[in-house]
Amino acid sequence: MNLGFLGTGHIASSVIEGIFKSDLKIKKIYVSPRNRVLSKKLSKRFKKITICKTNQQLIDNSNWVFLSITPKVGRKILKTLKFKSNKKIISFISTINSKDLKKYTRNNNVIRVIPLPFIGMKRGPIIICPPNKSLKTFFKNLGKVFEVKNEKLSKAFWSTSSFMAPYYNLLLNTSNWLTSKGIKKTVADNYTRELFSALSEDSINKNKITLTKLVSDSQTPGGTNAFVLRKLKKNKFYQIQKKAMNSIFKKF
Ligand SMILES: NC(=O)c1ccc[n+]([C@@H]2O[C@H](COP(=O)([O-])OP(=O)(O)OC[C@H]3O[C@@H](n4cnc5c(N)ncnc54)[C@H](OP(=O)(O)O)[C@@H]3O)[C@@H](O)[C@H]2O)c1
Repeated sequence: MNLGFLGTGHIASSVIEGIFKSDLKIKKIYVSPRNRVLSKKLSKRFKKITICKTNQQLIDNSNWVFLSITPKVGRKILKTLKFKSNKKIISFISTINSKDLKKYTRNNNVIRVIPLPFIGMKRGPIIICPPNKSLKTFFKNLGKVFEVKNEKLSKAFWSTSSFMAPYYNLLLNTSNWLTSKGIKKTVADNYTRELFSALSEDSINKNKITLTKLVSDSQTPGGTNAFVLRKLKKNKFYQIQKKAMNSIFKKF
């Protein structure tokens, strides 16, 4: 099978990275000339990658076309391209809905997918909307697939994907605080990364118990975890998080 990536940016590079780490059998990957630096870098690294001269050539050469351009570029260029009816179009574009994608591409074979950069290490959630058997089989090699029937629900998942920077900021804040107490910056950074990584992994390992129970199991009455949790709740930390998710939800 030949794959094509329309837009060779951050997310396309991560997906391609994941594909080459996986057992997926791919004949060729065609990438668009933009971004020039990234596409050249990828084609040097992976022999199966070819940079196309035009976006149309990329589409014509590919069985599956991944739309990895920004919404603004998508609205501008998709109408100008021809997608034959036998092409499968997989859109990573955050804010163009299925109806518009079908209209712009004049093709009904459109599926929206939300990958996240960790796909490059074959990790993390991947939303597929609507459910699609061949895409599920494909993406199962690159992370944990969640199929969503209703496009409105997939917007909720999009909203939570905006928690990457705030999450890392939590790590930064923790590390900075450790540094302020006299701990060396590299030690503080490494300790923080290790702590949060172990917490995330632990929550996956304990997936048989509810998240509510995980919260209660992690604190002893009157203990330090209980103290910090109470303090954050009192200062509306989690309410603010919810508000931010509600606001971003309206944007999708
Ligand atoms: N990043 C994420 O974590 C993530 C996750 C899920 C979904 N997405 C979605 O994926 C899409 C791409 O995001 P991104 O973060 O990968 O953005 P990005 O790094 O800016 O990549 C977009 C790519 O499109 C290229 N491009 C611009 N105009 C083009 C044209 N006319 N023809 C072909 N390519 C063109 C850009 O090249 P130039 O640099 O030359 O302009 C760039 O390489 C967005 O719609 C985003 O919502 C992103």
